[in-house]
Amino acid sequence: MLIFFLFIVSFIGILVMFLSIAYFFSFYRLLKGDAPFVPVPSSILPEITKALGISENSVVYDLGCGDGKVLMACASSQPKAKYVGYEISLAIFLLAWIRILKMKRSRSIKVFRKNFFGADFSKATHIFTYLMPKQMGKLEEIFERELTSGTRLVTCSFPLKIKKPSDVIDLERSEFLLVRKLYVYDF
Ligand SMILES: C[S@@+](CC[C@H](N)C(=O)[O-])C[C@H]1O[C@@H](n2cnc3c(N)ncnc32)[C@H](O)[C@@H]1O
Repeated sequence: MLIFFLFIVSFIGILVMFLSIAYFFSFYRLLKGDAPFVPVPSSILPEITKALGISENSVVYDLGCGDGKVLMACASSQPKAKYVGYEISLAIFLLAWIRILKMKRSRSIKVFRKNFFGADFSKATHIFTYLMPKQMGKLEEIFERELTSGTRLVTCSFPLKIKKPSDVIDLERSEFLLVRKLYVYDF
């Protein structure tokens, strides 16, 4: 019994250490202008799903999907669509994978531990991003080249540099908060 207890305590300890180190490295990425793991507030998930306007045949990508919360919220609102997430951090990817498995949505939501730069966006009908301005700049060039006509992009807080949004959704949150607007683009 004591050995079992020690095993559980050590397992939880190692897991917490692993997640803390991964979280630290996620913030270290900020120095390069890449987004760390900061999930969108749960209160704005309905606005995100509404802005995306997903239908049964949609293929929705979350670039830098974090713990998968946006994909899971979208899958709850439209279970027949397909969902794809890319996440670069191993620990955060595992968190997303476990949450999706627990939610029993692993058929419709696929997450990949992969840098989204270099991914193929041609099948995407909808894309969500909550990233840093430098990454949005690089993605804008790729989107202009590779997205199929009609693809909708919803980006949280950081707009594209050149393309004008078809809609800007004011989330009516305090001016001291980072997440205050959603930008909608139709390619
Ligand atoms: C601000 S968080 C957003 C998480 C999630 N999309 C949400 O809104 O809750 C950005 C995420 O993107 C991931 N990320 C940053 N650069 C990436 C890259 N090049 N490829 C894949 N994931 C990346 C980070 O590890 C982090 O988890």
